[in-house]
Formats: sequence, structure tokens, C-alpha cells
Amino acid sequence: MIQEITLRDLNPSRFIEDQIRSISETAGDGTAVNALSGGVDSSVVTALGHRALGNRLRTVFIENGLMREGEARSVQALFGDLGIPVEILDAREAFFAALKGVEDPEEKREAITQTFYRDVFGRLVRESGAKYLLQGTILTDVDETVAGIKRQHNVFEQLGIDPEKTFGYQILEPLIRLRKDGVRRVGETLGLPASLFNRIPFPGPALAARVIGEATPERIAVVRKATALVEEALAGTGAFQYLAVLHRDRVTGIRDGRRDFGLQIEIRCWDSVDARTATPTRLSFDLLEKLAADITAQVPGVVSVTYAVTPKPPSTMEVV
Ligand code: XMP
Repeated sequence: MIQEITLRDLNPSRFIEDQIRSISETAGDGTAVNALSGGVDSSVVTALGHRALGNRLRTVFIENGLMREGEARSVQALFGDLGIPVEILDAREAFFAALKGVEDPEEKREAITQTFYRDVFGRLVRESGAKYLLQGTILTDVDETVAGIKRQHNVFEQLGIDPEKTFGYQILEPLIRLRKDGVRRVGETLGLPASLFNRIPFPGPALAARVIGEATPERIAVVRKATALVEEALAGTGAFQYLAVLHRDRVTGIRDGRRDFGLQIEIRCWDSVDARTATPTRLSFDLLEKLAADITAQVPGVVSVTYAVTPKPPSTMEVV
């Protein structure tokens, strides 16, 4: 049973000291790698890991083809400014090959997990001689996986999987006792820019979690474009998270005066404290109308945009 540290009980400076000491002691003079996706959790882990290990930590951004527009370069530039070098590893082919023909949500998550940990990181760790992978698993990831709601991509030990036996390296998870609000506080105390520690959450399976059915490069491109428009339009709302989803069903629409059996995008925007429960943000209808008009005008093939009004539970925040 993992002992939770609530935001109220968190002493961020002491937490940081403890984690730095623990990472240094565990890694000894060995090297470690960590995957930085640019999300809040992996950004905070990257900063912690660099404090602990300096240049013995190799930080890698896995370009899996499923990330948001311009993400690899902007994350690399942001961390470069903080003095943390980030390598970009192009693994797009491996991920799309693993996702080919996969429609079931849990199978999709499993395909991404295996490609990430077994294939891409397995090779990277073997080649670099690193013994440890440092990653930003938080308590909510563990809870939902153990409860059987969703297999979060980064949870192993609690499912009885030994990463050392399965993938050939150990996994260090310094944030595992925290929830999102605690992680943000640690990020702030570490001196990360607010644009990073206040960033909206983004799931490990990335945009594949936002395409219902098969995640092909073409369908990912559609949801990527819609995501960029949603993030731009809703950035000022103060909501916990906002996203676009591409549905599998097509719907009849009208384009240029003719029938168009087109694509359907769903917008979700959540108010939440820690992602365990969430309610749809009461967005203004004007804002939604403008966003729908932008999406249908700018994302090829989209003829319908909807807004989700169901809370979590029974919904979850992502659709996959
Ligand atoms: P759900 O969809 O389970 O999402 O209500 C709760 C929060 O977790 C994020 N999420 C993930 N994060 N790996 C992650 O690191 C995952 O596999 C994953 N799935 C969902 C989601 O974006 C939301 O903030």
C-alpha cells in the first residue's frame, strides 16, 4: 500500500531533498535514463533527476508520432533553457506498426506500453548501459490501474510485473506518493517555469488516447489539429484539462451544398482538483460556437463538433 502525501501534508522542500538523496543513493554512480514527454509529471521528474544525478541522467523525448503539434522541439528548447539537454528519439515507425489494426482501448494501451518499455526503452537502456529508468508515475495512475478502470501505461509493480525481469532495468518513481496538485507544488519549488508546472495534464498514450478506434497517422493528424485549436481557445478558462476526441462514427453533414459523410470531433473540458473526479466546465456557448466553427473550417473532413457534459464518474476524462 503506497502512503499518500496529500497537498496539505506536503513539505515541498523536504520532499525534494528526500527524493534527491534517495535517487542518488539508489543509482550510486550508475547512469539512468528518463523519458520526458513535456507533461507535468515527467517534467518534474526530469528536474528532480537532474538535481540528483547531473549528467549521469540522460533525458530522452520519445517522438512516437502521437504527440501534440511542435511538442518535441518546444520541450527540447524549454529544457535547454533550464540547462537540461534533451535528446529526441524518432520512434514513430515502431509505434504506428504496433498500433496497426488495434481498436480495443486496453489493447491500444498495451501496444503502446510494450513498444515504449520493451522495444524503445529496452534498446536505449541496453545500448547506454543504464540500469534505471526514472519516471513520473503518480498515485492516481496506480489507483486507476489497480481498480481495473484503465491500465495506465506506466504502472507495473502494483500489477505484479517486475520491470527488471520483464524489460531488463529498474524503474524509479519519485512522485508515486503524490497527486497532481502535489506534483505541481514540487515543480514550482524546483523553480520550473509556471508554463510547465501549471500545464494541463496529457496522458502517456498521448493522442492515441483521443482517437476512438485505430490510431493511424492520418487519424492522429486530425485529432492533433483539433487539439491545437481546443488548447488555444480554452487556455484562458482556468480549467484542469481540455481536449479533443476523434470519433470512429461518421455523421452526415453538408459541405459546399452537398452531402458529406464526415468526421465527428468531441470537445471535453474538465474542472478537477486531482483527476479522481471531474465535472465538465460550464463554458460559454459563444466560446463553444466559435471553437466549433474553427474546427469545422480548419480540420479537414470534420462536419460535427460536440461538447461532453457528463461528469467523471461515470465518464472518465480521456476516452480510451
Ligand atoms: P482518466 O481518463 O483515467 O484520466 O479519467 C485521469 C487523468 O489521467 C490522465 N491519463 C493518463 N496519464 N498515463 C498517464 O500518465 C495514462 O495512461 C493516462 N490515462 C489518462 C488523463 O489525461 C487525466 O488527466
